[in-house]
Amino acid sequence: MKILVTGGAGYIGSHTCVELLNAGYEVVILDNLYNSCEKAVETIEELSGTKIPFYNVDLLDYDATEKVFEEHKIDSVIHFAGLKAVGESTRIPLKYYHNNITGTLNLVDIMQKHGVYNLVFSSSATVYGMPKTVPITEDFPTSTTNPYGSTKLMIENILKDVYAADNKWSITLLRYFNPIGAHKSGKMGEDPKGIPNNLLPYVAQVAVGKLDCIHVFGNDYPTPDGTGVRDYIHVVDLALGHVKAIEKKTGETGVHIYNLGTGNGYSVLDVIHSFEKACGKKLPYKIEARRPGDIAQCYADASKAAAELDWQATRDIAEMCEDSWRWQSTHPNGFNS
Ligand code: NAD
Ligand code: UD1
Repeated sequence: MKILVTGGAGYIGSHTCVELLNAGYEVVILDNLYNSCEKAVETIEELSGTKIPFYNVDLLDYDATEKVFEEHKIDSVIHFAGLKAVGESTRIPLKYYHNNITGTLNLVDIMQKHGVYNLVFSSSATVYGMPKTVPITEDFPTSTTNPYGSTKLMIENILKDVYAADNKWSITLLRYFNPIGAHKSGKMGEDPKGIPNNLLPYVAQVAVGKLDCIHVFGNDYPTPDGTGVRDYIHVVDLALGHVKAIEKKTGETGVHIYNLGTGNGYSVLDVIHSFEKACGKKLPYKIEARRPGDIAQCYADASKAAAELDWQATRDIAEMCEDSWRWQSTHPNGFNS
């Protein structure tokens, strides 16, 4: 079975390609390398021992995207390609709407034309907005607080309409919580451009000496230690969730929605302390004001994925930090180290 992975050179896509190949699927990657590099594709090939057809193509280029479907008999698509920086999305919203939404419209239109009706889409826990309680189940109300989140929710709604208009589709919406960690080999991991916004890459860069001090955004939340609580999930567990989605949902028509999280919440200080254990040194941090728009707690009820996809995250926070540190310490400048 041949899977087209859009955004396959990116952080989650690259780990997913390795696990798909390990599970015996054929993979074709389409990525415009806007937020990634060809070295990621070479590393997937090295780790899997498989040569992969790679297309340096932008989904906004309809004809170039269609050519991939002309050259390969694709069975299913996993659609990771998109822009994902929340802060940036508030500054350049049109770029986010155009890239994420138009890119998806082109992709789905081409899939339809070529009779490919199996799609797995990278959604996010961001579609739950400011949830009133935790843990979060898939039937919680959805809303968004920034343009990035709006693109995710709009795409979910577009895909529901696509299914409503044509019941041949099998659409799986995977809502990720907070992916961190790296491949066990230490050869593949997150490679953020510029100063990271998310907690884990920031902590990792302090640990490796690229940044001076961790800024902890608020310690007055109603959480056990006052800092924000999130559901961090190992990127390899997340990747395996995609393999399960392909295995269980391909050909099963409908719109299937799953949270992919561990179901556990860890605070900012928990993460810092786990990372200190992993890297064997104390990490300097300062408590600062809350970051606007942040919520106190966000973690998944992941029981639907356990029941229907036969999938559960198994890697704990210690392993996430150890694997992250192995990648960061051997690749202080990411793939270009
Ligand atoms: P990433 O930036 O590492 O990967 C996305 C890839 O898509 C990049 O390689 C980029 O070059 C490519 N891309 C972007 N626009 C494209 C276009 N128009 N045409 C072709 N390629 C394009 O991000 P990631 O962390 O791997 O995230 C993958 C997906 O998961 C994204 O859709 C993201 O919104 C979603 N997601 C990520 C997180 C997270 O915390 N990392 C959480 C929830 C959801
Ligand atoms: C981010 C995204 C969200 C996305 C989610 C999963 C933002 C504003 N939101 O949220 O849309 O769905 O990732 O990918 O980017 N923190 C610090 N110091 C830092 C960075 C973060 O204390 O330097 C704290 C935050 O206040 C939060 C926790 O660490 O409590 C996690 O932050 P982050 O990694 O940015 O993820 P989310 O806030 O969950």
